[in-house]
Amino acid sequence: MASTKRLPAFEKFIQDLRAAWVALPDTESRMKRGRDLLAELVKDESMRETCKRWPDTDGGRRNLLFYEDPDYGFAINGVVHGAGRKGSIHDHAQSWTAYGILAGTETLERFRRVDDGSKEGYAKLELESVAQGTPGKVDLVPPFDIHAEQGGPAKSYGLILRSERVAGKVLQGSYDRDKKTYRQIDGPTNIPYEITG
Ligand SMILES: [Fe+2]
Repeated sequence: MASTKRLPAFEKFIQDLRAAWVALPDTESRMKRGRDLLAELVKDESMRETCKRWPDTDGGRRNLLFYEDPDYGFAINGVVHGAGRKGSIHDHAQSWTAYGILAGTETLERFRRVDDGSKEGYAKLELESVAQGTPGKVDLVPPFDIHAEQGGPAKSYGLILRSERVAGKVLQGSYDRDKKTYRQIDGPTNIPYEITG
């Protein structure tokens, strides 16, 4: 598994995650450990430096794919959002997601669904919380939690740990709060990208 090309801090993150997957019994506890590891990684100077070279992911729904574990299935993605980016409201189906900010700021919105889900294509949402996503902060999003990431005043760089890749495997939820609609959509296009040292 070890790769000499990878940025050392990123390689250590992968190996620490693999150890967590072995040591811990379930996805929730592994992802809570993963959130703590990600919180350390987003503070790493070499990671903060290297993210400035990542290509933009706005325009179409795109994620950089840095790593997908061949044994345990967890995936590590990145996003580069432009200033003032309008984020859509969505969930990540059954996967857990830890979302960390390397540079810039974003506004992280969480929503609560208040209808009973029985009406096809309909969903009524209420805003539950709004948090400032700042460098060093990591937000852990449980399966099917409804949320949106809004761009800040400057370009922002997000590092994402998913318990499993959603894109290309299962559909995820997409919501329009004003129209009160719900539909299932494909996940973002994953673009392979190496984090090298
Ligand atoms: Fe998300």
